[in-house]
Amino acid sequence: MLTTPAARYRAEFPVFERCVYLNSCSLGALSRRSRSRVNEYLDLWDTRGASAWYETWWAALDELRTRYGRLIHAPAGSIALHPNVSGALGVVASALDYRARPRVVVTSLDFPTIGYQWMAKAREGVEVIVLESPDGITVPLEMFERAVNNRTALVATSHVFFTSGAIQDTAALSAIAHRGGALCLVDGYQAAGQVPVDVQALDVDFYLGGGLKWLLGGTGVAFLYARPALTPTLFPTVTGWFAHREQFRFDSRVLELHDDARRLEAGTPPLMPVYAQLGGLDVIEELGVPAIRAATVALTEDLIAGARARGLVPRVAPHASDRSAIVMLPSSDPAADVRRLAEAGFIVDARPGHVRVSPYFYNVPDDHRALLECLTHGR
Ligand SMILES: Cc1ncc(COP(=O)(O)O)c(C=O)c1O
Repeated sequence: MLTTPAARYRAEFPVFERCVYLNSCSLGALSRRSRSRVNEYLDLWDTRGASAWYETWWAALDELRTRYGRLIHAPAGSIALHPNVSGALGVVASALDYRARPRVVVTSLDFPTIGYQWMAKAREGVEVIVLESPDGITVPLEMFERAVNNRTALVATSHVFFTSGAIQDTAALSAIAHRGGALCLVDGYQAAGQVPVDVQALDVDFYLGGGLKWLLGGTGVAFLYARPALTPTLFPTVTGWFAHREQFRFDSRVLELHDDARRLEAGTPPLMPVYAQLGGLDVIEELGVPAIRAATVALTEDLIAGARARGLVPRVAPHASDRSAIVMLPSSDPAADVRRLAEAGFIVDARPGHVRVSPYFYNVPDDHRALLECLTHGR
């Protein structure tokens, strides 16, 4: 069997004993390490009860902030934890001043929860500009240039589009936003883990991601990076006791926020997902994101070539360097194709007009061949 070096980790993921898993952009596979870290959490809960907070769980939260930060080259103190991206966005959206700059620029290819945060503020005068992708794959930089003006508060868009897998030139986007006096927020949920991220080099103001997909952490855990120089100037109106600089003073009279990114947190984080994520990050860190990217580039190009050889026209970015490991294969009935493939033991996803296939380092080219054989033969 042909493999990439990273595929030696396949045995870490028991799902492959039951099926061919090719849907990591929806939900990363469960590793043995995540399961054992979750068991560790359950054992602590069982044996220590609430005392586990002071001895262990508090440190686990700090560890996760640090490790998420390391993953995206964020400086210490710039990561806030949340149970999901929507909650983190809600805090950011509540902290911006829209009086002189009511406009927020998003795109039609972003995950809908991005735009929703600001559409929900229409009553406060916030105006969302949705840039329509001309090809369903990317959004040209000139469209952002034209949309940003002195009434723009924020450009909020994706690092990698969940709809096409295309990687946006995030450094160029933040430069466009900043030239117009706006901030730049990047949803990196489909990027962090599968492509190298350096938030300082990208010069973004906010960067978000989470456990669900390429970070192998499952549901219930997400992160928000905020630029350290900006953070103390933010006064979110959506908040909670984890944002208080002395939360154990239990002072119900005065709200004094942390100076670091914890001022953008809210309530108690879900500990079981934190443990699952720590286990997933063990694998990601051991492999290293550059090695993961090398493996996924090879797999992505193999999948695209295999699909083309069978007469399919994958909807992907034109240049390989702008592609990530999300490959859209055209389908007249994606839901039926996905069901049929699942019955045959292949887990992929349906999106309008397409079967979405997302290989990760634990996949091998033979997975693609078997999938494409099944997909095209049943038609
Ligand atoms: C690009 C992107 N952003 C965000 C999310 C999820 O947001 P939330 O954590 O709020 O459910 C997803 C997928 O679930 C996604 O693909």
